[in-house]
Amino acid sequence: MDENSIAWKTAERVHEEGGTFVLTNAPIAMRMGSINQLAEKTGSEIIPADATKVEDLENLVEKSMEILGGKIDFVLHSIGMSVNVRKGKHYTDMNYDFTTKGWDVSAVSFHKTMQVLYKKDAMNEWGSIVALSYMAAQRVFPDYNDMADNKAYLESIARSFGYFFGKDKKVRVNTISQSPTPTTAGTGVKGFDGFIAFAEKMSPLGNATALECADYTLTLFSDLTRKVTLQNLFHDGGFSNTGVSQEVMETFVKDSE
Ligand SMILES: NC(=O)c1ccc[n+]([C@@H]2O[C@H](COP(=O)([O-])OP(=O)(O)OC[C@H]3O[C@@H](n4cnc5c(N)ncnc54)[C@H](O)[C@@H]3O)[C@@H](O)[C@H]2O)c1
Repeated sequence: MDENSIAWKTAERVHEEGGTFVLTNAPIAMRMGSINQLAEKTGSEIIPADATKVEDLENLVEKSMEILGGKIDFVLHSIGMSVNVRKGKHYTDMNYDFTTKGWDVSAVSFHKTMQVLYKKDAMNEWGSIVALSYMAAQRVFPDYNDMADNKAYLESIARSFGYFFGKDKKVRVNTISQSPTPTTAGTGVKGFDGFIAFAEKMSPLGNATALECADYTLTLFSDLTRKVTLQNLFHDGGFSNTGVSQEVMETFVKDSE
């Protein structure tokens, strides 16, 4: 996590709007990252937690409630990592230990987080839980590799757990499907530069930035979206509903002239 991260921008925006929160990341990432700077800037405490470990998440939720003085209004899951991508394993040549690890980190960690919050009755009524996704959950982007499958699973967890969180606790659960964004996780995807330029040309409003994603997340944390739940919400400048744009067409017209 660094100042480009979507979670970083979201923390800054929530702070600007007067919200209080705790920050977390995997203990191993904390040694490398600059999360302390963000904590200082936003006056928040850091509780390390590996999101694949239920006991870490239990500690995170308990300590958060102590620090914040009660139940929680909003939670952002902003975690993604594919070991196959990192190790350069092609989708047709997966190492399944890597696949399982990436799936646990990127998707099941969302279920684990919600199950801990649910069991500890840690969310306030009309609270909001958001996770970040990508359109490879619905459409093929060859270089996105097994993260496509992880995002499909993540979005399904949002609906399935969102049902119970809604019924039993009046809490909403949604995923935001964000444009490609130049962060550590984003730039790890092969051919990212070409890809982000393509998406920019395809989207009528251009790619959504990390800061714009933070703004959108805030609307979902606010009381103005109380009945929005079980949704996967595209925040992509219109990319997902665009068949082709003039700019992209022009590159082909020129090529054939
Ligand atoms: N960057 C993009 O193009 C893009 C597009 C759509 C969606 N997203 C999603 O947005 C989210 C945030 O990613 P980002 O782009 O800000 O990149 P990022 O690399 O800054 O954030 C990913 C974070 O996940 C953390 N993490 C990894 N394993 C963990 C674990 N076991 N426990 C706890 N934390 C762990 C990392 O330390 C890192 O802080 C991810 O879900 C990502 O898939 C990113």
